[in-house]
Amino acid sequence: MASAKMTVPKISARKVRTGEPALAMVTAYDAPGARAASEAGIDMILVGDSVAMVVLGYDDTLQVTIDDMAHHTRAVARAKPDCLIVGDLPWMSYHVSVEETVRNAAELIRAGAQCVKLEGGRKRLPMIEALIDAEIPVMGHIGLTPQSFHTMGGFKVQGRQAEAAMELIEDAKVLQHAGCFSIVLEGIPVKVAQAVTEAIDIPTIGIGAGPHCDGQVLVYHDLLGIEDRFAPKFVRRYTDLKAQTVDALSAYAADVRSGAFPNDEESYHLSDDQAEAFGLYGSEG
Ligand code: KIV
Repeated sequence: MASAKMTVPKISARKVRTGEPALAMVTAYDAPGARAASEAGIDMILVGDSVAMVVLGYDDTLQVTIDDMAHHTRAVARAKPDCLIVGDLPWMSYHVSVEETVRNAAELIRAGAQCVKLEGGRKRLPMIEALIDAEIPVMGHIGLTPQSFHTMGGFKVQGRQAEAAMELIEDAKVLQHAGCFSIVLEGIPVKVAQAVTEAIDIPTIGIGAGPHCDGQVLVYHDLLGIEDRFAPKFVRRYTDLKAQTVDALSAYAADVRSGAFPNDEESYHLSDDQAEAFGLYGSEG
């Protein structure tokens, strides 16, 4: 019987134009999230550096380290999801040298990731080649790359000018040629994402890149409405867990204050004979 576990070769073969279904990817940062994603039939879990913003309360993704990412990757891997586990290399873990890049990526693989993702196009080529040489599969990430938000002057849609759009196509081809098994396209116009997707044979995974990619990825807390302060226009909220959580916690607090919680069925009891003995003991005291 074929294993249900998703693998890198299975993902790299999932090109929509060859009749394959689109890939569904979601971020997850802990075991319950990974279990839910697996039970929902999600293809890939990205243990994203977005954990910095949606879980750890930072204002950007630059604050998390390779140790943080390994910690969350281990939590996801312990759930043994059927989904492919993608470990996200954080800022400064693949910028200093090829050696450091490989060592840091190995941390995520040892933590349970099956591959790593890193941001950037051609200029990351030496790092990508070294990772692939070390048998670590790589997912690329081009377009709006949040780790470069200072350079970009904010979280801005990329590739709006024809020349920049051509550069993205070139980057995607270079990443494919280097051996990446798929590429995230973030925050780029629909037509540009479509052109990139048509130009390469590995699957593209879009986020804010329109419907013509080979798959889509959303951040867990955005999709479930756990993060309700701000939603970029590409986010679709499938439920409102934050509001439901606040309602449930308010009801709990009210029940505690009124004495309605816990009730008799929610409490442990002594057997009759022990209650009697305890009563006698109590009366002696
Ligand atoms: O960290 C993350 O969540 C990501 C996605 C936005 C692709 O990199």
